[in-house]
Amino acid sequence: MSERRNASVRKIGVLTSGGDAPGMNAALRAVVRTGIGLGLEVVGIERGFHGLVYDQIRPMDARSVSGIIYLGGTILRTARSQEFRTAEGRQRAIETLKRHGIDGLVAIGGDGTYCGAAALVGECDVRVIGVPGTIDNDIPGTLYTIGFDTAVNTALECIDRIRDTSEAHERVFVVEVMGREAGFIAMESGLAGGAEAVLVPELPFDMGELCARVRSWQERGKKSSIIVVAEGAARGEDVARCIEQSTGISARLTVLGYIQRGGRPTARDRSLATRLGYTAVKLIAEGQSGAAVGISEGEDVRAYPLAHAVSGKRVLPPDIGDVARITAG
Ligand code: F6P
Repeated sequence: MSERRNASVRKIGVLTSGGDAPGMNAALRAVVRTGIGLGLEVVGIERGFHGLVYDQIRPMDARSVSGIIYLGGTILRTARSQEFRTAEGRQRAIETLKRHGIDGLVAIGGDGTYCGAAALVGECDVRVIGVPGTIDNDIPGTLYTIGFDTAVNTALECIDRIRDTSEAHERVFVVEVMGREAGFIAMESGLAGGAEAVLVPELPFDMGELCARVRSWQERGKKSSIIVVAEGAARGEDVARCIEQSTGISARLTVLGYIQRGGRPTARDRSLATRLGYTAVKLIAEGQSGAAVGISEGEDVRAYPLAHAVSGKRVLPPDIGDVARITAG
């Protein structure tokens, strides 16, 4: 995190990159309107870093972000740019920034976006601030990322629906959720949905032991059950097959997939996005660079070094596995 006090900021760019997350539009709206409120010129960069490499820039005014706070996806579009990962691609991106006189950049996205933002900080003078937008909730330094709450509630609604049919048919269901290498979506939706088991990459599990538990549930008269599996822990297909083969009990699979990325952002995601977007622009206007914004344990907005946000992994609370196991009954 660095401060460049003397250089005044006149024009900022904003982009959304990587997997879209519900609430990205709310963040974008806050960035544009805060920038304009501070007397800055604001431009939108389309398709994330791809748009920087290929000069896809559009002016943004207060009206250009009207009526988007409740929309999922991102009106700026998004992409995972391979070119930007190369030195040549980033050079082209830096030339685009110079050509348009952009001296500040707000990058909204997940870990890939943050890595791209961190690389830019080291290679040009543009002030860069990261805003965490990903359903995975896996960015160090922030309690929540934009989109996580909506994704969890979407997954929970699906789990509740699956519960109805699993009880009606007295079946075992495996529900695979997203989250990349992290188990936050699985754990949060599994706890809230009363899942009988939650498999996450952060906590070791034993398939043999899981199958024994399924058998014992059946013996105790618990005929229906839901096992939530984080995509980073195992393939739901493998878990269902293993249960069937080792217990003889049929297990149905639902992979929730991209359903979790879409839909209207929850109130929590919209307000989080608004607070983080606002703070990101304030920081840039003050001359800050190389920072990420996030939400603290006390729910205050905080700024911290981007380098911390791209270092390591966020971990689940240590006792969470016991909570899930004991309350599953
Ligand atoms: O990072 C968000 C996320 O939805 C992950 O949960 C998932 O693993 C990944 O993106 C899917 O990426 P893609 O959109 O490239 O298929």
